[in-house]
Amino acid sequence: MLVLGIETSCDETAAAVVDDTRRIRGERLLSQIDQHRPYLGVVPEIAARVHIEHIDRLIEEAMAEAGLGFADLDAVAATAGPGLIGGLMVGLMTGKAIAAAARKPLVTVNHLEAHALSPRLVADLPFPYLLLLVSGGHCQLLLVDGVGRFRRLGTTIDDAVGEAFDKVAKLLGLGYPGGPAIERAAKTGNPKRFALPRPMLGRPGCHFSFSGLKTAVRLLAAAQGTLDPATTADIAASFQAAVADVLADRTAQALALARIATPGLRHLVVAGGVAANQTLRDRLAALAAAAACELVVPPAALCTDNAAMVAWAGLERLRLGLVDDLAAAPRARWPLDPDAPPAAYAGVKA
Ligand code: KG4
Ligand code: ZN
Repeated sequence: MLVLGIETSCDETAAAVVDDTRRIRGERLLSQIDQHRPYLGVVPEIAARVHIEHIDRLIEEAMAEAGLGFADLDAVAATAGPGLIGGLMVGLMTGKAIAAAARKPLVTVNHLEAHALSPRLVADLPFPYLLLLVSGGHCQLLLVDGVGRFRRLGTTIDDAVGEAFDKVAKLLGLGYPGGPAIERAAKTGNPKRFALPRPMLGRPGCHFSFSGLKTAVRLLAAAQGTLDPATTADIAASFQAAVADVLADRTAQALALARIATPGLRHLVVAGGVAANQTLRDRLAALAAAAACELVVPPAALCTDNAAMVAWAGLERLRLGLVDDLAAAPRARWPLDPDAPPAAYAGVKA
């Protein structure tokens, strides 16, 4: 089985071909970081325009690397949401055009499901598993029961954790994207110098909150006056430690809850751009070891946005006969577990 995947939901323009032996046959990825850096964040209109300019060429190159023509494919998979609507339209319309012209099935892929299934592209990972999905747009704890079968245990009531990294880096003058910049600065910093809040720590349930922590960093930075490099490093390290504490606490809580529903649960997966963070990985590894669980972290290139995970999710869906028709619409919002209760004000005392 051969599936072409197309990813355009945010600021990566990407195409990849994967097969059912889990080989990535061809892959191209264009990061738009340079285009968005002057604005210290992703500008949706710029993103959509860059997707349009590059997607055809990237698909051609990925197909050429694979040595394949469209006629050789079994399906075309495109991210249809959630994400920035302009970009989603570009990728989905391109996927539809190829599917229609080559008379191949179209599989619309939920970007979050693509992250969720990505570890199965590199490891023999059976369902169910607990997934901590931490990226610039998302911060969720999901019990993954199967393809298209998710139970959301926790989500953020305000900012996503990657967004918090980006905003804190911005106010510390560390540049964009914020996660790697904070991690770099934190290396020489003292994580114990500043006692920052740990929002939601110890609360029942598994929800997250980061906006209060971000505000605390803003007030702390302002109180320092001019920031010398050593103080900046100490703030970055203290922030990173607070985030790691919160993520570890919420994940431990989710693991305990998930095991009530699914006693045999043995795998904890962390995916999304923030999964690249070594402090977080170390904390989760310790947590998994204490809970007799295996921690699975996909390689960095599969953790951040990419098209191989979209092609793979498309292939997993195709195997189950889950294909879509050409009328499928892009969806800016597309929850993986539509039955999950809303999380607004979760854990906040009335
Ligand atoms: O998954 P991703 O590439 O894109 C989406 O948001 O979907 O994640 C990007 C996010 C950014 O917020 C970035 O700052 C964060 O992941 N990130 C990190 C690290 N590398 C990337 N956060 C913390 N530590 C890192 N090393
Ligand atoms: Zn993503």
